[in-house]
Amino acid sequence: ASRPRVLSGIQPTADSFHLGNYLGAVRNWVAMQETHDTFYCVVDLHAITMGHDPALLRQRTRVAAAQLLAAGLDPERCTLFVQSHVPEHPQLGWIMGCITGFGEASRMTQFKDKSAKQGVDRASVGLFTYPILQAADILLYQADAVPVGEDQRQHLELTRDLAQRFNRQFGKTFTVPEAYIVRDTAKITDLQEPTAKMSKSASTPAGIIELLDDPARSAKKIRSAVTDTGREILFDPAEKPGISNLLTIYSALSGRSVAELVEAYVGKGYGDLKKDLAEVVLEFVRPIQERTRVYLDDPSQLDKLLAVGAEKARAVAAVTLQTAYDRVGF
Ligand code: ADP
Ligand code: NA
Repeated sequence: ASRPRVLSGIQPTADSFHLGNYLGAVRNWVAMQETHDTFYCVVDLHAITMGHDPALLRQRTRVAAAQLLAAGLDPERCTLFVQSHVPEHPQLGWIMGCITGFGEASRMTQFKDKSAKQGVDRASVGLFTYPILQAADILLYQADAVPVGEDQRQHLELTRDLAQRFNRQFGKTFTVPEAYIVRDTAKITDLQEPTAKMSKSASTPAGIIELLDDPARSAKKIRSAVTDTGREILFDPAEKPGISNLLTIYSALSGRSVAELVEAYVGKGYGDLKKDLAEVVLEFVRPIQERTRVYLDDPSQLDKLLAVGAEKARAVAAVTLQTAYDRVGF
């Protein structure tokens, strides 16, 4: 039997991915290459919904792709592409928008959150319709599964509703995707505010570890991570969120279980844990940084990889779009 197909995207809205992105998303993408038929895209169309700088966007899109390759995406085994290279995304997005209720779209809580930050009068219509484009991203590839975090659940529900609605109204066209809940997905929290998630938009620089950051700076951030006034190194996210977060990161990057780490640090202090974790992070980011640089130093090779990815993606997307066009009467 063929493998279930998966579609996932990541926004090129930062100069580097952070450990939360890696441990919560990218690491799973790499693993899913073994079990799924994988389509991964750098969603640059989504990255312009809140205002942007063109040169920076272009740079960040390339850096995002280079980091994904450096982290283990293999263009021989997955389809890695840039969303704007595949015009079928906004084309299907328009159709999806025409079967979405205005009230239905208005209930998306992420828009409410993000537009509240900007002021609703300054929020773009693109930010409002972004979950509809996201539905098109997924449906174009007939994805069976979509890895989702808590913050994306509502958007996946919308995608499922739209797929079912279209199929009912115009005839079976789209696979209705399921949420793919990844076991053991690490939730990484902010180093300075250990009850909040590590986030490129919400965290201060001191709260996030970036994959491409200078390791000395990352080590300093780890040393300065907020912990509690106790002394014991225990995994207890409610009472000891800071230490627990450091243990989670340590465990995920080293492959040692949290229990094993707790055992190993009996009688040792927070400083010891932080010092060792800084070393683990350094060992982890070094090869990723080196490989990222290799991709960025050879722009024509990176362009070629992304062009091949876009071609593979379009081969699937164009077929789905043609069917959808036929069904709606174009
Ligand atoms: P951010 O929250 O920093 O803006 P994104 O929303 O672009 O990051 O997230 C990209 C991917 O990384 C998503 O799949 C998201 O679930 C995952 N992710 C982001 N932050 C974390 C975190 N702190 N812990 C685990 N996963 C995360
Ligand atoms: Na987010």
